[in-house]
Amino acid sequence: MIRIKGLSVALFVLAPVALAQQVVWGQCGGNGWAGATTCVTGSTCTVQNEWYSQCIPGTAPPASSTSLTVTPPPTSTSTSSDPSSTPIAGLNYWFSFGDSYTQTGFDPNGVLPSPGNVLGNPPFPGWTSTGGGPNWVGFGATTYNKSQVMLYNYAYGGATIDSALVAPYDPSVISLKGQVDQYLAGAATKPPSTPWTSANSLFSIWIGINDLGGSYYQGGDRAAFSDTLLDAEFALVQKLVRIAFFDTGARNFLFAFVPPTDRSPLMLGQSTDAQALLKTVIGGFNTKLAAKAAAFKESHTGVQNYIWDASATFTKILDAPAAYGFTDVLNYGSAPGLFWTNDLHPTSEWFCFVLRGDVWLIWIVAGPVHKVCAQDVAAVLASTIW
Ligand SMILES: *[C@@H]1O[C@H](CO)[C@@H](O)[C@H](O)[C@H]1NC(C)=O
Repeated sequence: MIRIKGLSVALFVLAPVALAQQVVWGQCGGNGWAGATTCVTGSTCTVQNEWYSQCIPGTAPPASSTSLTVTPPPTSTSTSSDPSSTPIAGLNYWFSFGDSYTQTGFDPNGVLPSPGNVLGNPPFPGWTSTGGGPNWVGFGATTYNKSQVMLYNYAYGGATIDSALVAPYDPSVISLKGQVDQYLAGAATKPPSTPWTSANSLFSIWIGINDLGGSYYQGGDRAAFSDTLLDAEFALVQKLVRIAFFDTGARNFLFAFVPPTDRSPLMLGQSTDAQALLKTVIGGFNTKLAAKAAAFKESHTGVQNYIWDASATFTKILDAPAAYGFTDVLNYGSAPGLFWTNDLHPTSEWFCFVLRGDVWLIWIVAGPVHKVCAQDVAAVLASTIW
C-alpha cells in the first residue's frame, strides 16, 4: 500500500525522464531491460523473475522529505495466527493460477488476503510483470469486482503447466501443477482463515504462454502436443473439483486464452516464419482449450465455465492502439504510449513516483493493457458475484 501524506502532489501525464535511479516499485532489471538498474534510497533492486526486477522498499528510510511512506512486504514468517486469518462473513474468493502475466508474488504461507488487503502479501499491487502497477487480477479484485473478493493468487512467473512437459527457464519455477499442489495443501482444506464454498469461489487459470513459447519451434505434431498440455491442465482442473471420490469443491472456472505473444517484441526479433508458426500453434491451443473446457463442463455436474478470450483483448488493442492511448506496439520500455514494458510483457496502467527537490511527483505511465484485460474479464463475469 502506498500512501502519500501532507504534501501537494502534482499529477502529470508526461514521459518520465531518464532516471539515474529507479523509483520505489519501479522496474530495475530483467531480460531486455534498458532502464535504470539501481534503486532510490530505501529500496533494493530485487529479482522477481527472468523478466522483471523491482525496487522493493527496504529497511532504510525513504529519501529526505519522507512524503512517501511504504509498508514493507510482509515476511514469510507470518503465520495463520495473523489477525487476517480471522474469518469474516460475506466474503467471496478468487483462487488464481498462472504465470508472470498473473503473478503478484503471493506466498500462501504469508499474510492471507483480508478486507482492505485483498492480495494478502505482498501488498497491492504485488510483484507484477507490468513494469510497475496492478495486473489484470489486481484490477479485477479491487476495481471491477462486484463484491468483496479475496484473491489467493498462486500464479508464478515463468510457469508452464507441468515442468516435466515443458521445462521452465529456471528449475525453481512453480508450475501450474505445483501451484495446484500448494492450493490443495492449504486453502483447499478450508482452514478457518479461508471459509470458501463451492458457491462463493472462482478458480481462474491463465497458462500456456511459456508452454507454447518454449516448445512451438520443436518439430513433430504441435497439435498433438497441445492436446498433451491441455490434458495435463485438465487433470489438474479435475483435482480442483474432485480427487478420487473426495469432492474438493471447485465449481466455477475462468479459463483464459493464450494471448498473441507472436506479436511481442521478443518474437518480432525472430523470423516471420517463427512468428507465423507460433501464431498457428497458439490459435490451435486456444481452440482446443475452449473445446476441452466445454467437454469438462459436460462431464462434471455443477461445473460452470467462463472463458476469457485474452487473445481477442490483446488483438483489439494491437490492431487499433490509438483507441487505447498507445502510440507504439512494436517496441518496449517505460515511456508512455508503449504497449510492451519489456520484450514479452505488456504494461499495467500506473504511475511512478519521482522525487524532484522536496516534492514527489506522480508520473502517469500510460498503457492500460492489464486494465483493459480486467475490464474484459469483468464483462465475461458480468452475471457473477466476482
Ligand atoms: C471491490 O473491492 C474493493 C477492495 O476490496 C472494495 O473496496 C470494494 O467495495 C469492492 N467492490 C464491491 C462492489 O464490493
